[in-house]
Formats: sequence, structure tokens, C-alpha cells
Amino acid sequence: MGDIKIRSLDDNDKEWLKRLIISEWASINVVTRGKVHYIDKLPGYVAIQESEKVGLITFSISKDECEIITLNSLKENLGIGTALLEELENFATSKGCKRLWVITTNDNTDALRFYQMKGFRIKTIYTDAIKESRKLKPEIALRGLNDIEIRDEIELEKILKKKRNS
Ligand SMILES: CC(C)(COP(=O)(O)OP(=O)(O)OC[C@H]1O[C@@H](n2cnc3c(N)ncnc32)[C@H](O)[C@@H]1OP(=O)(O)O)[C@@H](O)C(=O)NCCC(=O)NCCS
Repeated sequence: MGDIKIRSLDDNDKEWLKRLIISEWASINVVTRGKVHYIDKLPGYVAIQESEKVGLITFSISKDECEIITLNSLKENLGIGTALLEELENFATSKGCKRLWVITTNDNTDALRFYQMKGFRIKTIYTDAIKESRKLKPEIALRGLNDIEIRDEIELEKILKKKRNS
């Protein structure tokens, strides 16, 4: 098993990104807190293992906050999600962001577990928010992972600490 390398997303990744996002998130756009994000317009990082693209994180920085818009690992439990998250955390900290946050849905118990293991805490639960999201993105399924009905948005956050100069 080769090392995982992380690099910035670039224009040559666009076709791969579109295929991945449409297959994982049902369309090229993702809705969080009533906002539509077009993933092919966002910055991000790609994980590479043995010349193969094996993961993607995309994000949006506003003022001093960084929102993770999508995170996908194509080979789970090998450290790819962790490596992408660490790269973004370092970048966001270097840009002066004070918090890293993400919206997931109530069915996504894997993501809830993953983020909490990485130091995130649940900030707010927006009950029934997906009803509004479906107006902006009708492709959102009624049932999600584990066959759980998708209803609520859950916001998780990690407060970022300035790195001390060594
Ligand atoms: C959530 C998700 C991104 C996690 O990605 P991942 O690549 O499996 O994450 P990692 O491998 O870094 O971590 C998963 C577990 O494997 C463990 N792990 C890390 N490196 C490992 C290694 N070399 N060998 C074995 N296990 C390892 C991690 O410690 C972690 O365990 P923990 O949860 O007990 O801490 C992935 O499940 C995914 O793509 N889900 C679908 C999309 C999604 O829901 N995205 C999140 C919402 S935006």
C-alpha cells in the first residue's frame, strides 16, 4: 500500500471531480444551510495513492471561517479522509481561520463518527432543514445511509488554534 500524497485541486481534475461528485452527491451542486455550492467552482485538495486519485475535499472560506463542503474517500479506513482533513486544517489555520465547520445529515453516522474522532463537536442540529434543501436540490434522496430518512442538517465544528512558531 503506497503513501498518500495530498495536492491542490487543479483544472486537470475537473472531469474526474464532476464524475465523482455526481456519483457521490447526486448532482454537481451541494446545499448547506440554504446555500447552493457548485463544487467545480470551489478550491480543494486531492489525495493520490500510487498515481491514483483516491479522495477529494472541497471547501469555502468566508471571513475567518472555513466550511468543508464535500469530503470523499474512495478507499476507506486507510487514512485518506484524515490526510485531506489535516491538509485543510493547516491551510485554514495559516489563512487565519478561527473555525472549521461542516454540515452533514442525520443519516450519515459514519461522518458523525469520523468528524467527532477528529476533534469536531456537534454545534447545532437544524431539524427538518432538508425539506428546504430539497427545494434547491430535488435530487436529495428521501432515505440515505442505513436506510434512515434524511431530515436534519447537523453542524459540526472544530475551533482552530494558531500554530506556535517553532
Ligand atoms: C467519512 C469519510 C470521508 C472517512 O474517510 P476515510 O478515508 O475512511 O477516513 P480515514 O481512513 O482517515 O479514517 C477512518 C478510520 O480509519 C482509521 N485509520 C486511519 N488510518 C488508518 C490506517 N492506515 N489503517 C487502518 N485504519 C486507519 C482512522 O483512525 C479512522 O478511525 P476512527 O474513526 O476510529 O478514528 C468516508 O467514510 C467517506 O468518504 N464517506 C462518504 C462521504 C461522506 O459522508 N463524507 C462526509 C460528509 S462531507
